[in-house]
Amino acid sequence: MSGKKRVAVLISGRGSNMTALIEAAKARDYPCEIALVLSNRPDARGLGTAKAEGIEAVALDHKQFSGRECFERAMQATLVAHGIELVALAGFMRLLTPWFVGQWDGRMINIHPALLPSFKGLHTHERAMEAGCKIHGCTVHWVTPGMDEGPIIAQAALAVRGDDTPDSLAARVLGLEHKLYPAALAHVATNGYAEATLPAGEALFGI
Ligand code: GRF
Repeated sequence: MSGKKRVAVLISGRGSNMTALIEAAKARDYPCEIALVLSNRPDARGLGTAKAEGIEAVALDHKQFSGRECFERAMQATLVAHGIELVALAGFMRLLTPWFVGQWDGRMINIHPALLPSFKGLHTHERAMEAGCKIHGCTVHWVTPGMDEGPIIAQAALAVRGDDTPDSLAARVLGLEHKLYPAALAHVATNGYAEATLPAGEALFGI
């Protein structure tokens, strides 16, 4: 037994945050192993990346199921079959029902490309720029039934530049995400739900 927490990463596409978690988990003292990557899209680029790393990668095409509940029950069976202890959503683009969220209460986290509680949902970089934000960033939070609403675990922020476009801002925030998510997952794996907020001074990564 390695003593490492068995983590599943749920993706729908590119999987760059998944890759950051896989890379971090290669460190001997990282408290998790990425035991499974699960995608609701068979064409998700991240599936190939995970397989190339020797990680079990499963596609469950949500369109092949008769409804959300059936799809989620299949996901749940897969997670249980792989002995998963923690779930990390990383660009997983399906809304989850209260039933599924309840199965992973206090054991499922998500990364969101904005400083919550501002800019829940999509197109966060465009919206932050339109709002004239001078500071923008990303958030790792617990997953609860309300979208992007769970308790905040960690955040990282950067300054919006005068010449930023939504794309340039997205690229810099993504770089922050790749640092924040592995740090937050390690913290959660070590400390569990009750204490899963990074100590002051550790939550902010500058640029
Ligand atoms: C990231 O920006 C993440 O914050 C959001 O979806 C995007 C996924 O990107 N939830 P990737 O698939 O990890 O590259």
